[in-house]
Amino acid sequence: MCGIVGYIGKDAIKDILVDGLRELEYRGYDSAGIAILEEDEIQSFKAIGKLKNLEEKTKDFSTHHFGLGIGHTRWATHGKPTELNAHPHLGEFSYVVHNGIIENYQELKKELQASGVHFLSQTDTEVIVHLFEKNYKEINDPMAAFEKTVETLEGAYAILLITKADPQKIYFAKNGSPMIVGNDAKGDIYFGSSDAALIGKATEVIYLADGDYGYTSADGIFLYHDKEKKGLNKKPLIGDKVSAQKNGHRFFMEKEIYEQSEVLGDTIMGRVLDDQIKFDELDANFFDGISEIKICACGTSYNSGLACSYLFERQAKIKSSVEIASEFRYKEPLMSKDTLFVVISQSGETADTLEALKMAKKAGLKTLAICNVDNSSIVRLSDYTLLTRAGIEKGVASTKAFATQVMVMWMLSLYIAQHKKTISEKALQDEIDAIRHIPTTVMVEDALHEKIKRLSKRYLHGHGFFFIGRDLFFPLALEGALKLKEISYLHAEGYPAGEMKHGPIALADSELFTIALMPKNVHYDKIKSNVEELSARDSTILAISPLAFDLADDFIKTQHDNHPMSEFFEMMVITQILALEISVRLGNDVDMPRNLAKSVTVE
Ligand code: F6R
Repeated sequence: MCGIVGYIGKDAIKDILVDGLRELEYRGYDSAGIAILEEDEIQSFKAIGKLKNLEEKTKDFSTHHFGLGIGHTRWATHGKPTELNAHPHLGEFSYVVHNGIIENYQELKKELQASGVHFLSQTDTEVIVHLFEKNYKEINDPMAAFEKTVETLEGAYAILLITKADPQKIYFAKNGSPMIVGNDAKGDIYFGSSDAALIGKATEVIYLADGDYGYTSADGIFLYHDKEKKGLNKKPLIGDKVSAQKNGHRFFMEKEIYEQSEVLGDTIMGRVLDDQIKFDELDANFFDGISEIKICACGTSYNSGLACSYLFERQAKIKSSVEIASEFRYKEPLMSKDTLFVVISQSGETADTLEALKMAKKAGLKTLAICNVDNSSIVRLSDYTLLTRAGIEKGVASTKAFATQVMVMWMLSLYIAQHKKTISEKALQDEIDAIRHIPTTVMVEDALHEKIKRLSKRYLHGHGFFFIGRDLFFPLALEGALKLKEISYLHAEGYPAGEMKHGPIALADSELFTIALMPKNVHYDKIKSNVEELSARDSTILAISPLAFDLADDFIKTQHDNHPMSEFFEMMVITQILALEISVRLGNDVDMPRNLAKSVTVE
């Protein structure tokens, strides 16, 4: 996820910007840049890779007077991680940094190109600076030009803009992406896309609201909303850097669970249009000659792949199979060229998945990576990539990466369905409405978290957990069990509910915990009778469902039952929080569970 910083004052501008960016490193990035305006001159530096590359490039540069600067760490979404795509983006006399996604950038870009503007990068961000300059040339008033620019933008953004047309000011705007502005006792002004960049510098801050915009200068912060001047609601900035990185949460895993609404919004942005699914990353020939999909991955990524194989068959009417990469490698698999080979990986470095991908390439298959890290080995090797846009995931137990993988593949199944015309317009519209609802579905309400926290004390012992579900909810059961075992060290299995009577039900007694995923929209009666069978054998049942279930020992009522996938995502969050709270009660290291590594680069 990208990071933004800004500063106005007399201190060493470059050092302040780079320090701020360093505090945002934890969010993940693949390039960084700064632009500094001092005595009417703008200097800009960009580097791909780590911040030390930017520091190396700027080592002979320093400022000595009052000035201002903006900085950015970029996590690639539109276009590769190159210097040209790194922020700040330059117009003729202005620079901009931006977090978020400008949804209407393609139409704006076309209009600007038609009026003679030349674009240097592949990013959506670059339209902002050109649009501002075009407006400025027409209006000759920087603030009015900025206001007009912001009005034209659709999508999510946190923007800082500096311009030689008004060299004493930083213009800012926020909508959907976080932005904080603060000042110290001297009146120097700081910007950051997270608290972490401001701690130790600003003493009081304003958390900007969506729709806020304005400018800052040596005279202070000037805030506007809907063309009206707005009061400054300053708050003291307290806290330490690590807790700021965790956004006030106890663990990175908890932060990442809560972040799912935001990152799923990023995942769908620009890809879900009013009447179709669009992937800029896939060209018109993408699906030519393909009659089968094979998905290959490990761990959580395998679970997301398994879930989505149901969607590929159901929505896109295409034969789909899923393989565990470490098994696939050595089974001497038969591969045919009409197969699209899809690898899923959060890190993009998992050794088994990477090797399976190499095998598929060698066999001449078309390959697609669903991945969270641009420029990773898997991305570099694949013919096509769809980035999941989850931002860096620090908790070893994967949460938001899983959520975004499922989302990307749900969209992909619809994209293929569109292409193959296996879905009606009405059904597609219903799916699009459902996708847009998901960021709301995964928001965590305090009452829900509190309830799970209280329940968790009853699930700390026993001789094992069975997470059970049917259809799409079977892979979700696998994932729920994987989360629990990773961080609680308790034995947990995910099982297809209908399979219990073929063996595992022998384990049922009051010390066997059944976590039953009982969606209203997917075979409710079938799963209900499977759970009744377990209840009859005295298994302790925690039912998760929108429908009351009398035989449950514990019951978590879900709220979103308008679509199977809403139920899927809401239940996903519940199982994640359940695992987290059990682990906390057992005193385990939630973020770094024993024996596990975040990226498994060995076989
Ligand atoms: C579980 C988890 C692992 C990974 C697996 C594959 O929480 O994170 O099971 O999913 O090691 O990793 P990636 O997705 O990076 O290929």
